[in-house]
Amino acid sequence: MDETNSIDELYREEIMDHYQNPRNFGKIRDADVSYQDYNPVCGDEITMQLRMENGTVKEPMFTGKGCAISQAAASMLTEEIRGKSAREIVAMKQDEMLKIIRINPGPVRIKCAMLALRAVQKGIVRYEAKKQMVS
Ligand code: FES
Repeated sequence: MDETNSIDELYREEIMDHYQNPRNFGKIRDADVSYQDYNPVCGDEITMQLRMENGTVKEPMFTGKGCAISQAAASMLTEEIRGKSAREIVAMKQDEMLKIIRINPGPVRIKCAMLALRAVQKGIVRYEAKKQMVS
């Protein structure tokens, strides 16, 4: 096995570890941000929830069911966004998500990798809009 293959293998193992032992998995009662999204191609789904404090993520959690990449990406994303501001998260792009999961899933599975980020971004946008309505 050459070095590139063994690094790929390591990252793949990391994905499987997050899939089998998801971090921050569960529900937040009275979450500030809560958004369920799904991949229409396969039906896999993710619900992202956040408790916010002073505009930043205090507690991120997720639940979902689906393929290893979608669930592992959600788990890895929750670790990444703790302490980040709503604005920073909404501005995150595909390449940042790929850096977080450290594999290139290819054109077909890219939707799997992006499901959690899209869900949390939509949730934050909705949360911010609601806040503006009441203020
Ligand atoms: Fe459904 Fe990956 S195959 S999200």
